[in-house]
Amino acid sequence: MEPSPMARQLQKTRLMMYATFGVTEALGVVAVFLVLNWVVHSLGGFAWDGSSQQFNWHPFLMVTAFAFLMGNSLVLYRVFYFLDKKVAKVAHSAIHTASLVCIMLALYAVIDNHNQSNTNNMYSLHSWIGMTTCVLFFLQLVFGFAAYLVPQFPESIKANMMPIHRFMGTLIFCMGIASIISGITEKAIFTYAGEYQHLPGWSVEANLLGLAVALYAVGIGILVTNPSFSREDNIAQMWENLND
Ligand code: HEM
Ligand code: HEM
Repeated sequence: MEPSPMARQLQKTRLMMYATFGVTEALGVVAVFLVLNWVVHSLGGFAWDGSSQQFNWHPFLMVTAFAFLMGNSLVLYRVFYFLDKKVAKVAHSAIHTASLVCIMLALYAVIDNHNQSNTNNMYSLHSWIGMTTCVLFFLQLVFGFAAYLVPQFPESIKANMMPIHRFMGTLIFCMGIASIISGITEKAIFTYAGEYQHLPGWSVEANLLGLAVALYAVGIGILVTNPSFSREDNIAQMWENLND
């Protein structure tokens, strides 16, 4: 039997969702590759000894946590709508917990590097926006955990909290992207000093990294805010198809 016009429209929407997801994932992988390549080839690689190579864990772990992991955790309810809601919730929480570990290590890497090299902490706009973002992320994780994983939490508050959880989660992701872009800019200016204006080789890679992160964020933004990509609409579509 021919699918109904409604079912066809819903199928088209889902196709658009997966096309957006495919492009977004590719950009996320490119961003992680670019930050790794930049850190290893231009900034001197990794170490854990208080040196500037220890600092290098900071950009790598922050891009992994605040862009790649968080972005995927935000869109998984929609892209994997067919998963049991409980499984999706555990995956969402587990990925955020993995982000938390990366963020703690990334903050330790830079603060310890500053302390060991007698550099002041928390002086730049980047560090102020970055730290605010980390605190908001931590609060979101604590409230998310309490409301949606502790069964004794009152149902009425839980439902009222969801729009706030959605809004704050998306805002924290956007603030993470702003922190990444300001961090890359700051590091490029420190590293390439007066040469930056002539775009020496590795500074192009730093710029491309920022661009990849920004475009990835656009993709995640579309996936997590388009009402027709919501889990509810996808589930409705699944039923529509079954009834055809
Ligand atoms: C969401 C991502 C990020 C967050 C939340 C964040 C957060 C922070 C914080 C809180 C500090 C201050 C540490 C201290 O005072 O000792 C800092 C320092 C720094 N970060 Fe980031 N960062 C992020 C990403 C990046 C990236 C991708 C780079 C690029 C290389 C970067 C470069 C720097 C630099 C150069 C410093 C030292 C100078 C300063 O204190 O501003 N950050 N970051
Ligand atoms: C253990 C901690 C967390 C739990 C248990 C949790 C739980 C949930 C639940 C149950 C939903 C509803 C999904 C739906 O109704 O379809 C949700 C959605 C969402 N969460 Fe969390 N969450 C946690 C942490 C976080 C964090 C740290 C962030 C961001 C920084 C975040 C951002 C979001 C966003 C943006 C949505 C909306 C997704 C959509 O509209 O498809 N969550 N979360």
